[in-house]
Amino acid sequence: MSTGLQQDKIEAEAQHLLNGSGTAINAWSSPGPSAFDFRSDTITTPTTRMLSAIAATTLADDVFQEDPTTNNFESFISDLTGKDAALFVMSGTMGNQVAIRTHLQGPPHSIVADHRSHILEYEAGGAAVLSGAMTRPIVPGNGRYITLEEIQEKCDLRSDIHGCPTKLISLENTLAGVVMPLDECRRIKDWATANGILVHLDGARLWEVVAAGAGSLRDYCACFDSISLCFSKGLGAPIGSMVVGKREFRERARWIRKMLGGGTRQLGVLTAAARVAVEDQFLGGVLKASHERARKVARVWERYGGQTTNPVETNMVWFDLQAAGISADRFIEEGEKAGLRLRGGRLVVHYQIGEEAVRRVEKLAQAVLQGKELNGSVEHPPKKMKMTTD
Ligand SMILES: Cc1ncc(COP(=O)(O)O)c(C=O)c1O
Repeated sequence: MSTGLQQDKIEAEAQHLLNGSGTAINAWSSPGPSAFDFRSDTITTPTTRMLSAIAATTLADDVFQEDPTTNNFESFISDLTGKDAALFVMSGTMGNQVAIRTHLQGPPHSIVADHRSHILEYEAGGAAVLSGAMTRPIVPGNGRYITLEEIQEKCDLRSDIHGCPTKLISLENTLAGVVMPLDECRRIKDWATANGILVHLDGARLWEVVAAGAGSLRDYCACFDSISLCFSKGLGAPIGSMVVGKREFRERARWIRKMLGGGTRQLGVLTAAARVAVEDQFLGGVLKASHERARKVARVWERYGGQTTNPVETNMVWFDLQAAGISADRFIEEGEKAGLRLRGGRLVVHYQIGEEAVRRVEKLAQAVLQGKELNGSVEHPPKKMKMTTD
């Protein structure tokens, strides 16, 4: 099942498409191989404009809070989100964990969140280790996002010593590419505030929510005590996230960030690139086109009889591999034959994915759903195979 050669081929083809000659070019010349990579929007490659911004950045010490590029960027994000203060962190995980640790002052305490959320499933148990928090997962009844009523049922408001009081609700938007509506966020925040519970948002992809027209960045951010926003996913920066909130929140968050080893010195090399990512991709309005392309990818799949498991509301498409009778491993292999990098049934359409990639998805759909030939080898999908990991 090793496919190293095929991967090399995909990358070489991407380079060829870029400069038209096949001559090796600088890896910074975006999009590069990411043009055919649907595994995640984290694989977006930084651009030459980011490289130029890095070359032109200031190089003062951010632990001393003296770097103008970083300070200006933090003010810029505070303005954009309508929050008092912003703090740059190394990753989305660090942003969430710093925010959680900042809010929670001492056990016993619990956090309520969607059972699929990144903070519960993909942060190495950080909330338990770093904040000593018990987590209370909710399975959304509507299959899309958790509601106020489900949160009310899950929160522990007892002052009984047997309980583990809920001090934080953590939401995620988008989650699986699905938008949590602004009205629901407002209802949750109003109720939480009335009950002395703080609300954090994992807004790694909040940019996508805004690009989908669900509400403004400021309106969404007004619903939360803290928000973490990622620059290195759909916006394409090499590194970095921001946590935003009240001024006192930032003061304590800076302390926690330092404790976790996230206090950095010449941070301008990162913040300069992250600012270009926000300006070019988010403010530049390129995300909407990816949503349109994601819908196109879903239509292509459906044209050949494929089904999807989630609605396409932003940049993620979920192919139902089980219904198609193909395992994730096999689908990935077929994708490689079509010149695509895949990770399973979830296809993430980022701004560096173009029309040629969609044409390849069509070939892939023909191959796995109709048994058509790919790259000379005839591959018929088995009638029924259990889906493996995704
Ligand atoms: C919703 C969400 N939150 C947080 C993160 C963590 O980001 P990072 O990989 O930068 O730690 C991810 C990563 O993909 C994510 O999808």
